[in-house]
Amino acid sequence: MRPARAGSTCRVSPREPVGRRTPAVSRLLVRDLAQVATPAGATAPLRGAALREVDVVEDAYVLVHDGTIEAVGRMGDLGSLGEEVEELDGRGLSAIPGLVDCHTHPAFAGDRANEFALRARGATYEELLAAGGGILSTTRATRAAGDAALVEIVARHRDAMLAHGTTTFEGKSGYGLDRDTELAQLEAVREAGGVPTWLGAHAVPPEHPDADAYVDWAVEHVLPDAARIAVAADVFVEQGTFDVEQARRYLLACREAGLVLRIHGDQLSEIGAVPLAIELGARSIDHLEATGPDGVAALASSDVVGVLLPVAALYLGRPMPPGRALVDAGAAIALATDFNPGSAFCESLPVVCTLACTQLRLTPEEALAACTVNAAHVLGLADRGRIAAGHRADLVLLDAPDWRHLAYHLAGDVVRTVIREGRVVHSRA
Ligand code: NIG
Ligand code: FE
Repeated sequence: MRPARAGSTCRVSPREPVGRRTPAVSRLLVRDLAQVATPAGATAPLRGAALREVDVVEDAYVLVHDGTIEAVGRMGDLGSLGEEVEELDGRGLSAIPGLVDCHTHPAFAGDRANEFALRARGATYEELLAAGGGILSTTRATRAAGDAALVEIVARHRDAMLAHGTTTFEGKSGYGLDRDTELAQLEAVREAGGVPTWLGAHAVPPEHPDADAYVDWAVEHVLPDAARIAVAADVFVEQGTFDVEQARRYLLACREAGLVLRIHGDQLSEIGAVPLAIELGARSIDHLEATGPDGVAALASSDVVGVLLPVAALYLGRPMPPGRALVDAGAAIALATDFNPGSAFCESLPVVCTLACTQLRLTPEEALAACTVNAAHVLGLADRGRIAAGHRADLVLLDAPDWRHLAYHLAGDVVRTVIREGRVVHSRA
C-alpha cells in the first residue's frame, strides 16, 4: 500500500497547485524510492542482449542539480548534502527515465471520429484515403485552423503526453501540404518544445496533378524554409502516396539541406522502403508491420533504427510489426505512439509498452530501452534516456514499487509524477 505522503514535496509552497510547474531549485533530492530503473550502459542505440540490461537500484535516491542528474544510489549510501535541498518523497514509488516519444503527429485540427466509425463497419484505411478522406481530410481541417490554433493544439497534446510520462517528443508536420501550413506546424512543434520533423511527403494534396509534381514543388518551395526549423525529414512510402523513386528524390534533397532522414515504410505493403532507408543512411524506418524476413535481416546488419508503432497496428487491425524477430536478429529498435487522429489516437507510451510485451513479444526491459535511450538516439539526443549522472534530469515516478508496472498495468493510471529538467511538471494527487 502506498504511504499517504509518497510523492509529496517538502519546502514547496502549499499554495502551489498540483500539476503546475514548481519553481526552479538548484538541488532536488528524490528520496526513499522503492526502485530506480534505467537502461544500463552508456552507448546508443542498444541492440541484442544489451537491450535487455536494466540496472535496478532498490531503496534508492536520485539527486538533481540545476536540471542535471548529479548522483543516483542507495539511500544507505547517501551522505550529508550540507546545503538547502528540496526533497521529494519517493516512498512506494519507482523511478524510470523520462519517456521519449520519437514519432508523433500532434499538429492537426479536427478529428476523424466519423472514419473510425466507418472502419468499424468495414471500410479500410486505404479506401478512405483514396476517396479523399484520411490524411487529406485532416489536411483540410488543419489548413483552415490558423497558426495560433496550431500552437495551442500542439501544446495541449504535449501536455497530454506529459501526463503519460513523455518528457521529450518529436512532432511531424504533414497535414498542411502547402507551404504556410507546413511551416506553421513545424513552428508549433518547436514552440511546444518538441523536435520538429518535416513530413512534407505525407500525401499528395489535390491541387497537384500527381506525386512527382508535388515532390518537385515541395522541394523547391517548402524545403528551404522547413530545413531552417526541422531536424529531420520524413516520407510516407506506400502504394497510393509516394513510391521508392519519388521518396529517394525527396529524401536526397532533404539530406542535401542538412536534414536527418526518416521513412514511414512497410506499414501496409512492402514496396522497397527498407532497402531505400539503408541506401540513404536514414536514421530510422518507422512502422514495419509488413516487413518480411529479408527486411528484418537487412535492418539487423544496418544502423537504421526500426521504430515500432504497435498502436497503429492495433488501431487499424493489421498485423503487428516483427518486434521479437528484429531484436533477435540484432536490429536496433525504438517504440513510439505514432499519435495522430487517423491510425493511432493515443498519447500513451505506457500503453505502447504493454503492447510491446504482449503483442511484439518484447520483455519489459527491452520495451523500456526502446522508448528511452533508443528513442532519444533516433532524435539525436545523447543527454537523456538514462538515469545516470550527467544526464538531463527527466524522470517519471511510477505509482508502484516495481518499475515493470509501466508495461504490466494496461492503460493504468501508473504515472504519478513527471520531472523535466529537474522541475516537477506533472503530479497527480
Ligand atoms: O504513421 N501512415 C502515415 N501516417 C500516419 C497516419 C496519418 C493519418 O492517418 O492521419 C501513420 O500512421
Ligand atoms: Fe506516423
